[in-house]
Amino acid sequence: MEQLLQQIEKYKQEIAAFAAAGADEVEQFRIKWLGTKGLVKAVMGEMKNVPNDQKKSFGQLLNEFKSLAEAKLEELQQSHAPAAVVTGPAIDFALPGDPVTVGSRHPLTLVRNEMVAIFKRLGFAVAEGPEIEDDWHNFGAMNLPEDHPARDMQDTFYIRKPEDGNGPTWLLRTHTSSTQARVMEEQKPPIRVICPGRVYRNETISARAHCFFHQVEGLYIDENVSFADLKQTLYFFVQEMFGKDVKVRFRPSYFPFTEPSAEMDISCQICGGSGCNICKHTGWVEILGSGMVHPKVLENFGIDSNKYTGFAFGMGVERITQLKYQVNDLRLYSQNDIRFLKQFTGVV
Ligand code: PHE
Repeated sequence: MEQLLQQIEKYKQEIAAFAAAGADEVEQFRIKWLGTKGLVKAVMGEMKNVPNDQKKSFGQLLNEFKSLAEAKLEELQQSHAPAAVVTGPAIDFALPGDPVTVGSRHPLTLVRNEMVAIFKRLGFAVAEGPEIEDDWHNFGAMNLPEDHPARDMQDTFYIRKPEDGNGPTWLLRTHTSSTQARVMEEQKPPIRVICPGRVYRNETISARAHCFFHQVEGLYIDENVSFADLKQTLYFFVQEMFGKDVKVRFRPSYFPFTEPSAEMDISCQICGGSGCNICKHTGWVEILGSGMVHPKVLENFGIDSNKYTGFAFGMGVERITQLKYQVNDLRLYSQNDIRFLKQFTGVV
């Protein structure tokens, strides 16, 4: 009995002296003293060996001992309670933010806008017309009557083509000359317009050809407009577009709607004239067709060809873009590959 009392006294001292370094040790304390196999329970079990006359005072002693252990546990648990948990996402204001992806203009849009801006500085207005056209505006008015062999130059997508000639023919415009026809229909000279827009031709898609592409065509009709005006206008354009060092040359050509007609080449902007794949090692690349408006075209719109003359030109936006940004495959323009498009971020 004496031994048991001494043991309890030692336990009490041990409990009083206990200090925990962390929540784990608090839990170990609970298991050791107050767990189901803990020492408090074990000591309680001694009750049955205590003589009856001492049971009462021993019971009190045991209760004190148990209370001491419980009070100590509570004290320990309070001082080692886990920190209050903050709910919701943790925000660290020092971290860099999520990147915001910046969109970019399509290279063809960039170049078209630049082309339009240059011609606007020369006093050209902008005209737009429908992509679905009738035969007259795309061909007939442009001095390409039916069965004219030059129609084969432009592989046309027909939407409606009655074999017996009954009813209208509908097609996808093959050039924006059709818009020039609409302008001449509605306006009297002087006329000074450019016609940007998408055009369609039935070509197999490859790096060098596509079934749709974009043009900027121009038309200038007034009294005394000469071939010299045509040359100077186009020379001004390429200098603005490619810089003062660009060289030009005109080659005789044929278009049904112009007479005389010429194609214009510029010194290759990729190799600088020394020869590369783009210029097929000639140092020159063709960028446009042009000429003096055919008198018949003027007459088609009731414009007096004795009083008025004019020049016209047409070029592909894809070709100009290729030379400006060294894009070597036409298909890139319409594949919407973000790796291609994002190279133009920040270009305005
Ligand atoms: N319409 C011609 C084409 O699409 C280009 C052109 C326009 C040529 C005006 C001469 C004059 O090929």
